[in-house]
Amino acid sequence: MKYQTLKGLQDILPPDISVWHHIEAAARKIFKSYGFHEIRLPIMESTDVFIRSIGETSDIVEKEMYTFEDKGKRSVTLRPEGTAAFVRAYVQHHLYNNPSPQKYYYMGPMFRYERPQAFRYRQFYQIGAEAMGIEDPKLDAEIISMLSNILSSIGLEGLNFEVTSIGCKSCRPDHKKALKDFLGKKLDNFCSDCKRRYDVNPLRILDCKVPACIESRKGSPAVLDHLCSECSDHFNKLTHYLELLKVPHTVNPNLVRGLDYYTKTAFEVSSKNLGSQSAVAAGGRYDSMVKEFGGPPTAGIGFAIGMERIVPLIKDAIAATEGPDLMICPLNDAAAEKGFQLTEQLRSEGLWVEINHEITSLKSQMRKANRIGAQYSVVLGEDEIKSNSAVIKNMTEKEETSTTLDFKDFLRIIRSHS
Ligand code: HAM
Repeated sequence: MKYQTLKGLQDILPPDISVWHHIEAAARKIFKSYGFHEIRLPIMESTDVFIRSIGETSDIVEKEMYTFEDKGKRSVTLRPEGTAAFVRAYVQHHLYNNPSPQKYYYMGPMFRYERPQAFRYRQFYQIGAEAMGIEDPKLDAEIISMLSNILSSIGLEGLNFEVTSIGCKSCRPDHKKALKDFLGKKLDNFCSDCKRRYDVNPLRILDCKVPACIESRKGSPAVLDHLCSECSDHFNKLTHYLELLKVPHTVNPNLVRGLDYYTKTAFEVSSKNLGSQSAVAAGGRYDSMVKEFGGPPTAGIGFAIGMERIVPLIKDAIAATEGPDLMICPLNDAAAEKGFQLTEQLRSEGLWVEINHEITSLKSQMRKANRIGAQYSVVLGEDEIKSNSAVIKNMTEKEETSTTLDFKDFLRIIRSHS
């Protein structure tokens, strides 16, 4: 074939799209009950927005960004994630002047030049949420509980919620030293990227995907064991509140996030049905990012759900085959005109109505009504037009109801069954 989607990108077509709609609608409903408002942000930003926040030594910035020069010679990047772009908007529009917590959500595509594989794409969609202005760990628990509610409301079960703390600026030096002592002894076993990271940001070695590095870093000291008293207190309260809200979770001291901006709480939700790309959602706190973007010191916490990871998990459970309420099958030109009027009248009442514009045999029209999954069909021929009456057929129950050709009668019959 001459033209195909680019590697790692995919078309989302009906009937699969109805699963996407189902997830988005369920998420919106829950966001509303928690007081989150939707925001829509641009798909590209100045490259600096991502380098500053995600971190120069992260895999995303080092290897995965779609960065290019625009015609005005500015370096722009297709957003690899939503949080940095969100914080840019938060500071730009002084959203911190609103009462805290300010709560926002977004849905849209992200771009990472990763090696494509099952459940890993170069353009993928996230549903993300960010809550700003509150340092209290009750907010962390509320956010994780909201995520859990979204995932269970779409029918996802058996997920593993892992939480940890990755500390703050005051606990990191202690952990960094312990980590360097541990990794330094076997540095020869690591890839060249990790050897470089050892000096600049040894924490990033914990996120390297090279198998030899994964093996060699086993048993390395976790930040959780090196927390300062403030971070430790925050983490203990978080797990207490999660228990209070009955959010099932496990503490994983080795949980590593691929983004540099996190402070304190970090979490990940995984499914065992996705192979190596098991993370369906992830997030954490980022209490210093707003200040780094030039705003007043403001705490933040959020998460993002990966759509391509959850759609396959619920696809079969959702009735993806939707069909029209009514299919009108005219057998001659006069019937086609009457049918055309009826179609538009019923559509303006909110029904999904299809009509055959090309007049074909009764048999082929009925076959089509079946194929597209119409709930009802009506045949309009010479007799129907003359007598101003017709028979509406329920395609699943095979039940027939006589009616006049007044659209209100059609509406009554179709609505009385739905
Ligand atoms: P992240 O862990 O990089 O976090 O991505 C969140 C989720 O996006 C992952 O758990 C996964 O489900 C999905 N995802 C990531 N990369 C891919 C890919 N290549 N193909 C398919 N799905 C993918 C963030 O992006 C943070 N911004 C989350 C956050 C919000 N933290 C605080 N606020």
